[in-house]
Amino acid sequence: MISAFSDSALAAFRAAYPDAHAPLTHQLVGHPLLTVDAIAALAERLPESFVEYNPGKLPLGITAEDTPRPALSITETIRTIGENGSWMVLKNVERDPAYGALLDEALEPLRAIVEPLTGPMEHREAFIFLTSPGSVTPFHMDPEHNILLQIQGGKVMTVFPSGDDALVPPEKSEAFAMGGHRNLVWDETFAASGIEVPLEPGDAILVPVKAPHFVRNGNRVSISFSITWRSERSVAEGELHSFNRLLREKGLPLVNVSGTPEKQKVARLGYRVMRKIAG
Ligand SMILES: [Fe+2]
Repeated sequence: MISAFSDSALAAFRAAYPDAHAPLTHQLVGHPLLTVDAIAALAERLPESFVEYNPGKLPLGITAEDTPRPALSITETIRTIGENGSWMVLKNVERDPAYGALLDEALEPLRAIVEPLTGPMEHREAFIFLTSPGSVTPFHMDPEHNILLQIQGGKVMTVFPSGDDALVPPEKSEAFAMGGHRNLVWDETFAASGIEVPLEPGDAILVPVKAPHFVRNGNRVSISFSITWRSERSVAEGELHSFNRLLREKGLPLVNVSGTPEKQKVARLGYRVMRKIAG
């Protein structure tokens, strides 16, 4: 069994989790499941809906509706990723047994650090990103605890603090919690609060739940492996923003979403009751 993280990477993870981002290192470079050929074969096995394609030459801020549709098939896109100026994500690759085992192996050493802080690691998912040279992944946030492991090529992730209402207005958090799109509105005034983290093969980054980020790929094809999980904290945060969406629609006072939403038992109960009443 390959250990994804060294003791020093685990120490860096421990110092940052769950609320701060952290540059880490990993040991999965060269793993046979993470080559272009292995990924192309996986894409053929996965249901079509698990493969998301995005053209790479995009502005930092773009809506889901404005994102152009693909011109090539999934396999063609992967095999020509060096030239076609795109980025793709293979979602929920853990549903494939070999990749499920790889995810479990990678997450296992983190469990002893994660569980005392944020409860059981739930809803474990893995994603593979394949990116053409020069592609940009626009400004967005994700709902999970995430470690992005750089496998091949280089990229720079610019990461911003989570929980900043200037970057992610409460209305956006509420829409996101109800299933809204991950992309965020970009404003040049945000640039000063971003931290650039270069990622070369063997590097990784811990991205906190809903920490906004964008990614600029380097001049080579990039492969990144993302390992994610949810926690009681991340689920509670989503519930409270969903609750606020319902309260806002009814013109009622909103609840404060604290840094430890899992402890806001009364508000979470309120959400469940209100959701039940709403049917
Ligand atoms: Fe992301």
